[in-house]
Order: sequence, then C-alpha cells, then structure tokens
Amino acid sequence: LNIEEPSSEFKRKPVIIIVVGMAGSGKTTLMHRLVSHTQASNLRGYVMNLDPAVMTLPFGANIDIRDTVRYKEVMKQFNLGPNGGILTSLNLFATKFDEVISVIEKRADQLDYVLVDTPGQIEIFTWSASGAIITEAFASTFPTVIAYVVDTPRSESPNTFMSNMLYACSILYKTRLPLVVAFNKTDVAQHQFALEWMEDFEIFNAALDSDQSYPSTLTRSLSLALEEFYKNLRAVGVSAVSGAGMDAFFKAVEASAEEYMETY
Ligand code: GTP
Repeated sequence: LNIEEPSSEFKRKPVIIIVVGMAGSGKTTLMHRLVSHTQASNLRGYVMNLDPAVMTLPFGANIDIRDTVRYKEVMKQFNLGPNGGILTSLNLFATKFDEVISVIEKRADQLDYVLVDTPGQIEIFTWSASGAIITEAFASTFPTVIAYVVDTPRSESPNTFMSNMLYACSILYKTRLPLVVAFNKTDVAQHQFALEWMEDFEIFNAALDSDQSYPSTLTRSLSLALEEFYKNLRAVGVSAVSGAGMDAFFKAVEASAEEYMETY
C-alpha cells in the first residue's frame, strides 16, 4: 500500500486574501483587478462577496452573501437602518460559515487563492463579532492574509496618513494575521512618499512640520509608536485602474502566507 503524504504545497493552498479598506479606497475596483489578474496568470482563484448591500459587482462571485441573505428584507424585518441591516445580514451569514469553509475545503487542491470582498464601511467587518468569527474561521483552516487598501492620493497629508495607518495597525493587532498594505491609485499619486515616511521617522516629522492644517503633537508621538508596526507589515503600490503593481502585490501575499505557515 502506497499512501502518499500530502505535499506541503497542498497543505498551504489556498491562500485567503481578505480585502478591507476605508470607504472609497477602491476595494471593489481592486478586487475586480485581482480577479482579472489571477485569471490572466492561470492562477486558480475563488471569489467571495461579503457585502450584502452591493447592488452590482463588476466581477463574478463564486460565493455571494446576497444569495443567502436578503439585506432589504433584513432591514424591514428587524426595523433597521442601512448599517444595522448590513451588520445583521453579516451576523446571519456568519452562523452558516462552517458550510462556506467546507465548500472551500472540498476544492482546496484546485485553488490558489480565495479573494474576499468585505462591506464598504470597514468597521462593519473589522469591529463586529461576525467579522471576527469569519476571519477566525478562515485563519484556523487556511493561510489567511489581510490586504488593507489605502487611497494613496488622499493620504498625502501626514495627519490623514497617520489615521489610516493607525487603523491598519489596530487590524493587525486584533487579527494577528499578516497584513499587506496596498497603496492604491498609484496612477494618480505614487506611493514612494509613504514608504519613506514608514522607513524614516525624521522624514515623516519634516512633512508634519510643513503641514499646518492640524495640530501635530499627537501625530508626532504616535508616529514613534508606529515604528514597530511598520516593521511587521508589507507595503506595495498598486493601481486598480491601470493594473500596475499586481506582481508585487501577489509576491507580498506569498511572503505573508509563508509567514503564516511559520507562525500559526
Ligand atoms: P465602497 O465599497 O463603495 O465604499 O468603495 P470601495 O472601497 O469599494 O471603492 P470603489 O472600488 O468603489 O472605488 C472608489 C472610487 O475610486 C471609484 O470612483 C473608483 O473608480 C476609484 N478608483 C478605484 N481604484 C482606483 C485606482 O487605482 N485609480 C484611480 N484613479 N481611481 C480608482
């Protein structure tokens, strides 16, 4: 009897990529780009939509929360506003998430990546019990990476940059999963400044000195505290619109998946 051990390659697949980011950062457009990139590169991708309120998706989803939960019905039935409706829909979906995991497990040897789009309001996913349950269910079964999408042109002000990075930092420490920061919209603004600010506290401080729009004392002290955080993440520049940076993005995801395999 010849029983082959499953290869480590098999065990590490698929890698789950959970895409989060502030409203308007370009999550959905980036998801679309990632889906096309995987298809064009012969990578075997599976696509999941966790936004119950999205009207139309520019890409096809293999698993779609909207097939299970009717967001408008949930709002009516529980007498909720839009955000409460999204949150409750996600809660309802989370109770069935073991079934979703089984579906992916059955196809595990045929998949390289599972791309997961999350609701437009970031906190609905990152600060809810159901978001935590879903993330945990993924991470206990597959290598899981968080892709944090940043609107690069809107982060050119040092104070805005800092708020965005603090949010990313809170996600990193809450989930304890590898995090890739995707500086999006590099067709409009290059992300070089962000890399410099993360690498060198002095350069960030100089930028802060020249920004009079906001009192900067808090930002200055926070930036020192974030030095440790910056060391723990991978940052890449991408453009969901032009497709720039896709190879760098997937390289960072692969390195993060390796880190996951070593750590978890
Ligand atoms: P919500 O889920 O609705 O909160 O937004 P989102 O984060 O999914 O962002 P979405 O993909 O809807 O993009 C927001 C806006 O940014 C749209 O007008 C996009 O066309 C634009 N956008 C997204 N990615 C890029 C990019 O790489 N470059 C440029 N120039 N615009 C982009």
